[in-house]
Amino acid sequence: MTYTLPTTEEKSSYVEEKFDEIAQKYDRFNDVITFGMHRYWKRFVVRQTGLRPDEKCLDLCCGTGDISREVLRQHPECKVTGLDFSVEMLKIAESKSSRNSNIQYLQGDAMKIPLPEANFDAVTIGYGLRNVPDINGCLLEILRVLKPGGVLVSLDVGKVRLPIIAELNNFYFFRIVPLIGNLLMPGQEMFQYLPHSSLEYPNQELLKRMMLETGFKQVDIHDFVFGASTVHVAYKPTNN
Ligand SMILES: C[S@@+](CC[C@H](N)C(=O)[O-])C[C@H]1O[C@@H](n2cnc3c(N)ncnc32)[C@H](O)[C@@H]1O
Repeated sequence: MTYTLPTTEEKSSYVEEKFDEIAQKYDRFNDVITFGMHRYWKRFVVRQTGLRPDEKCLDLCCGTGDISREVLRQHPECKVTGLDFSVEMLKIAESKSSRNSNIQYLQGDAMKIPLPEANFDAVTIGYGLRNVPDINGCLLEILRVLKPGGVLVSLDVGKVRLPIIAELNNFYFFRIVPLIGNLLMPGQEMFQYLPHSSLEYPNQELLKRMMLETGFKQVDIHDFVFGASTVHVAYKPTNN
């Protein structure tokens, strides 16, 4: 099956529509394709935030709310805002949170975050930067809503550095992952989009450079599974 990625202009509406379509199957798909490892990586993401009691976290592109709930599990006294533009993903997130929890879900665009500046101690984003039409623009928005000294923790796919492992990873990601997706939702092209979107996504070092050029100071990279999965931890300067 040949697949063509949406253009930059089409990307936002395409991504929103497709995540609405796959929302019911998204969690199972993630569990299967990562052999459950995404849960460990998300716990790691939240540990990197270093949140303290009563601090505020924005979980951008929160989807079904895995990271939002994990923030609260590790930091029960923090306040979490989960933001996503897919209504169907948000419905699932809401159904998984108790009514009185410290999580508030909000529909909105990560390219134009509908929240005031210098508002959050931490921003988490799981598999979100790869889906926005302009990574630099999104990073600027994240910097805007972070308090001085705040931290951004981003989890996404990375590039495997060892050639033979990279071949295996590509085979898995481009051949097996769409097959698994097709079993869960026959004919759904989103499961082709997911691997193909990684082609245009910067490698770990380039993303780090983009973060530094946008205005973050100190960016640390943590690779998992030979770099197939990666976490960037970036700090907003205290004097920004
Ligand atoms: C791959 S899912 C990740 C969900 C969740 N963070 C996780 O780690 O499981 C990507 C999510 O980003 C959302 N998304 C993509 N682009 C967005 C944008 N510009 N604004 C808001 N949400 C966006 C999609 O609707 C989708 O729910």
